[in-house]
Amino acid sequence: MSGRWVGSRYCASDQGASDHGAPVQHVLSGAIVGLALLALPCAPNHAESRVPELTGRALSSTPDARHGEVLYQKFCAGCHRKNGRGSDESAVPALAGQHPSYLIKQMAAFIEFEREDSGLHRVLAQAELSRPQSLSDLGAYLGSLPVNRESNIAHGSSDAKAIAEGERLYADNCSVCHLPTAEGDAEHFLPKLRGQNYSYVLMQLRRLAHGHRFDTSDALLAVFDAMTSAEMEAVANYLSRLPPAPTHTAAR
Ligand code: HEC
Ligand code: HEC
Repeated sequence: MSGRWVGSRYCASDQGASDHGAPVQHVLSGAIVGLALLALPCAPNHAESRVPELTGRALSSTPDARHGEVLYQKFCAGCHRKNGRGSDESAVPALAGQHPSYLIKQMAAFIEFEREDSGLHRVLAQAELSRPQSLSDLGAYLGSLPVNRESNIAHGSSDAKAIAEGERLYADNCSVCHLPTAEGDAEHFLPKLRGQNYSYVLMQLRRLAHGHRFDTSDALLAVFDAMTSAEMEAVANYLSRLPPAPTHTAAR
């Protein structure tokens, strides 16, 4: 498959291969179905985004995780916590152990106003942080941190039936893209969802459902749109309780 990036979204096309993100082959057939849903044809004259270029330049830099740590502790730890696990009470996402490629793409999207959140734009657009090298360093440092261990489940239900319902909903609607392990896929910028903070997952599901967030294809919107509030809570509850995968590796 070939295509190009329009906005921060990968568009299927016959002409021109993308520098990154072109889903050529995947060992898991489920992921191919998911990626086909992601790569929809886009309008031809859409303004080109700078997110793919910034992301690509950061991904081709050689990361210095120690410098990433210095930047992180100076600019980010106040909200995302020293250990990178964020905060359930304030719906601040855990960044620890997330795929560097996904983190870099999101940082680029905040910098370029392609992901809503003016506060974070102001932080990340500073000259010291918005360079490709800094994004690469931050991604490498955060990706190397251990994933959430004490899960942030302040609001979720510990009822076994509620958790099983979340697991079923996840398997039916989400695992095709985020993988059955909820480990996501670094190569295709798919976030790891295991152990993510409950309130943050819920907030993002509501935003995704309302088309407030970036890179969402119509097919994906339809998945979220069909979910009730109770179903979103169940799936967020299930995901926030998943322990780190035994196979966890900081990919890319
Ligand atoms: C003022 C508090 C605050 C500071 C400082 C802050 N963040 Fe955030 N960050 C947030 C919040 C809140 C969100 C969720 C934004 C949203 O989607 O509404 C977030 C989201 C993110 C995301 C998206 C995560 C995901 O799973 O999609 C990344 C990446 C990120 N921040 C990186 C950083 C980095 C790197 C720094 C330091 C350079 C930083 N943040 C500083 C509060 C902060
Ligand atoms: C068609 C593939 C696809 C399916 C199906 C899908 N997602 Fe996603 N999801 C994505 C992509 C791609 C992103 C990242 C979007 C971006 O780059 O901004 C994402 C982002 C998210 C995020 C934001 C994560 C973060 O750290 O900010 C959450 C939460 C999420 N998905 C949960 C779900 C749940 C729960 C389901 C099932 C109900 C689901 N997704 C189904 C592709 C998918």
